[in-house]
Amino acid sequence: MRITGTGHASMRIDTGAGSILCDPWVNPAYFASWFPFPDNSQLDWESLGDVDYLYVSHLHRDHFDAAHLKRFVSKKATVLLPEYPTSQLEDELRALGFTSFLKTRSNEVHELDGGLKVMIQALISPTDGPIGDSSLWLEHDGVRVLNQNDARPTDLSVFAELGHVHAHMLQFSGAIWYPMVYELPQAAKTAFGKQKRDRQFDRTWRYIDDLKADHVFPIAGPPCFLDDELWQFNDIHGDEGNIFPDQSVFLSEYAKVGGTNGVVLLPGSVSTLTAESIETTHPTDVAGYFANKKAHLEEMRERKAPIIAAEKASWRHPEIDVLGELKKRIEPLLEESIYLAKGVGGPVRFDLVAYDGEAVESIVVDFPGKQVRPYADEKVRYRFRTQRELIEHLIFIDEGDWVNSLFLSCRFSAARIGQYNEFVYAFFKCLSEERLQYAEGWYDEHEKSVDAEDTELGGWTVQRRCPHLKADLSRFGIVDGNVLTCQLHGWKFDLPSGKCLTSVGHQIRAEKTSS
Ligand code: FES
Repeated sequence: MRITGTGHASMRIDTGAGSILCDPWVNPAYFASWFPFPDNSQLDWESLGDVDYLYVSHLHRDHFDAAHLKRFVSKKATVLLPEYPTSQLEDELRALGFTSFLKTRSNEVHELDGGLKVMIQALISPTDGPIGDSSLWLEHDGVRVLNQNDARPTDLSVFAELGHVHAHMLQFSGAIWYPMVYELPQAAKTAFGKQKRDRQFDRTWRYIDDLKADHVFPIAGPPCFLDDELWQFNDIHGDEGNIFPDQSVFLSEYAKVGGTNGVVLLPGSVSTLTAESIETTHPTDVAGYFANKKAHLEEMRERKAPIIAAEKASWRHPEIDVLGELKKRIEPLLEESIYLAKGVGGPVRFDLVAYDGEAVESIVVDFPGKQVRPYADEKVRYRFRTQRELIEHLIFIDEGDWVNSLFLSCRFSAARIGQYNEFVYAFFKCLSEERLQYAEGWYDEHEKSVDAEDTELGGWTVQRRCPHLKADLSRFGIVDGNVLTCQLHGWKFDLPSGKCLTSVGHQIRAEKTSS
């Protein structure tokens, strides 16, 4: 089996029974904020795109690059489609010209021509990707690979049961706006960022340890930020609170916990994998490349500046009545929303900064009042501040997922009272009837499924499944004093009160174990 690195989460896998291109991403994503690093735009995409199968793990724009798929990937390729509750991924791929689809069933092995076996696990909670994220397992000729990509399954047992895995590709770096965009004192931001960076690595070690593959490939990030406004997010400033450590940092951190089987793929690197061995060639020296990271980024910044400028020029639509349009689009959804609206529980304010950089229009999405209206000098749960033109553009393109556009762009700042509230972001990724209905139904079922099973942890009897996304706490839970941390996403719970310390709601059932 041959695995060619094609940048970020992307790779091409060649087997004796056909080739698979995974998640090709080249064009900037999220309002021209994210670029792949190292740069992969110079690869021979005509050849790389001439494949038998295409796997797009999910719709996040650093995995689903519509322009690139349209131009470079053979429309004869059969799409290996994850089993998602909405048809959006299939619809978007059909719109690009793909016609052949293998609709996989989640966690079922499918045998393709030539003895190539594939299995896709689809994660479908409203907090997984843009309602859906997935991992691809495959086997050919006795060699097994798990491309976990950036999915966060509760555990990897379903893959481990299919036999020893030889290569495990997974995310290790950050891919979110927290804590950078929050309006906090720098010291607090650094402390939160450091916690997050540590947690990302801990989660990665746990997954690696779960599967015990022969070789581990750090993939799916970090992106790089080439716009001057976002340059500070690159991990080149010696900031220990930066959440975007790169593959070379992965290798050194991994070595500290005894990891010696890491394989970094640059765009153009090729690993030849058998059940017994691996040989990897690189287009350039890997350590040397990362040692010169800043210079590479500066060179990219200059080269990509015209792309960013062209994108920015397309965002302004001054003719749009933002308040009126948001009312028209969001109020019907607020009216239908029970769980998400209750979960948000208060008004959310958007401060829109006009072109002159000074005038600000304040709009409130009032979840309890079910309306969108001007801000009325009230207390709000969340406040976002961004450029008016970004919201104009979201309205102009009829964007139904503001996480997969505005929030991941990091082109905003935020303040909140109290804890993180996942329902705020879940709502703004569900700005379509289909998605909202799905998310409401999911929370409804989730709420009703009483998890009766318990487990013993650190002198406490607690419900076995995490109230967040049902991770098995007998494996992911750690108790320190009266606080339980679920290591899957790092959420914390105060055991005596059962209160979730990380997000609103999500009470845990816990009792001191009698001795
Ligand atoms: S499942 Fe997310 S923190 Fe436990």
